[in-house]
Amino acid sequence: MSRKLNAPRGTADVLPDQAALRQRVEETARELLESAGYGRIETPAFEATELFSRGVGAATDIVEKEMYSFDDGGGRSLTLRPEGTAPVCRAYVEHGMHKLAAPVKLYYLGSFFRAERPQAGRYRQFWQVGAEALGSEDPAVDAELIVLLHQLLTRIGAGGLRLRLSSLGNPASRSEYRDELVAYLRAHSNRLSEVVQGRIEQNPLRAFDSDDPSTREVMASAPRLLDRLPAEDLEHFAEVRALLDGAAISYEIDTTLVRGLDYYTRTVFEFTSDDLGGGGQSTVGAGGRYDGLVELLGGPPTPGVGWASGIERILIASHAEAVAPAPPDLYVAHDGATAAAFAVALEARAAGLRVELELGGRSLKGQFKHAERLNARFVAVVGEETLSLRDRASGTERLVSLDELVGHVKRGIAS
Ligand code: HAM
Repeated sequence: MSRKLNAPRGTADVLPDQAALRQRVEETARELLESAGYGRIETPAFEATELFSRGVGAATDIVEKEMYSFDDGGGRSLTLRPEGTAPVCRAYVEHGMHKLAAPVKLYYLGSFFRAERPQAGRYRQFWQVGAEALGSEDPAVDAELIVLLHQLLTRIGAGGLRLRLSSLGNPASRSEYRDELVAYLRAHSNRLSEVVQGRIEQNPLRAFDSDDPSTREVMASAPRLLDRLPAEDLEHFAEVRALLDGAAISYEIDTTLVRGLDYYTRTVFEFTSDDLGGGGQSTVGAGGRYDGLVELLGGPPTPGVGWASGIERILIASHAEAVAPAPPDLYVAHDGATAAAFAVALEARAAGLRVELELGGRSLKGQFKHAERLNARFVAVVGEETLSLRDRASGTERLVSLDELVGHVKRGIAS
């Protein structure tokens, strides 16, 4: 026998019983987002590498060490998409969507790729449902998106949810703040972890993310961006909060909230679930505003805001259990009259019934057993000249014509 092969590390097969759970998340997301006017967009699974180095940021973990990049054979570098916001903004610019009425509201459902160390809730290929609204600065867009994500997570039954919220302001005030933070970190560098010391210049905000106890102590008294925001950004943030208060969504303001992507401006948020493991994997969905991203990708100045949520994490947080498929209405058995049985199955299916046809070469007795295992309500026994219908609920059997069969089954399952 040849050596067997397994799925690559950090990836998983989705088998039918788990697929049914995912489908529920996908259908709920679709229903919720479409009823709020979001239209589906799907972008390619790979993009020019530059889209992410420019859009997500060259100094982020994602771009520095988590991308699956490859040469397309013609000297161009492509990357399996690690996230969906930069691709959606690329598509927005490419298709001139700024000419549409604002905001342009889009959602996506698809798989994403990050070369991370695999663990519970963290995979190398994972699925996200995401939503993006482009073209409006209105704080109501931020609040509406947060409410939609909250509704999605609660409808699916994610447990122990917490919402952390902050504002990062605009690039100018952030750059002033950044200088202040760099000076502070330099003044305390002897008490910072090596990793944090190594990226003081490159990414000082990430210092708030550190698990190192001594670094955490230093960061407890570090200057906070939220205390340095200009009035208009503070006002924007206050309006987002007021709308969330009005919608009875509880949240904690977390001034240390840093997202691992560089494009954020103003509102940022993360939903964590106590029912997911600790560490980075407790985030079930996250997002924020990215008012400069479209312009950075060659489009006109366009505000934007959105979120994405990992489908595997939603399922873990909601303790979703495998669901049995719905039983067939009709099982079509036969003892060699294959063509006639085939025709009966197709006809009954065309009439809207859930139908399974005998395909396993079983004896008639074996077929009845199988119909019982599947919990099919009716069994049609097809001969070359005869057709009989057995109602497994009442134990009755009668000869029927093909025309009568569907009516009998429909009446039976409706009763
Ligand atoms: P993100 O925080 O990198 O943001 O990812 C969003 C969500 O995707 C996470 O909260 C998590 O549920 C899921 N996720 C991320 N990485 C993994 C992984 N390795 N395994 C399993 N699940 C994972 C973004 O991707 C932004 N594009 C969100 C956004 C949209 N911001 C604005 N618009």
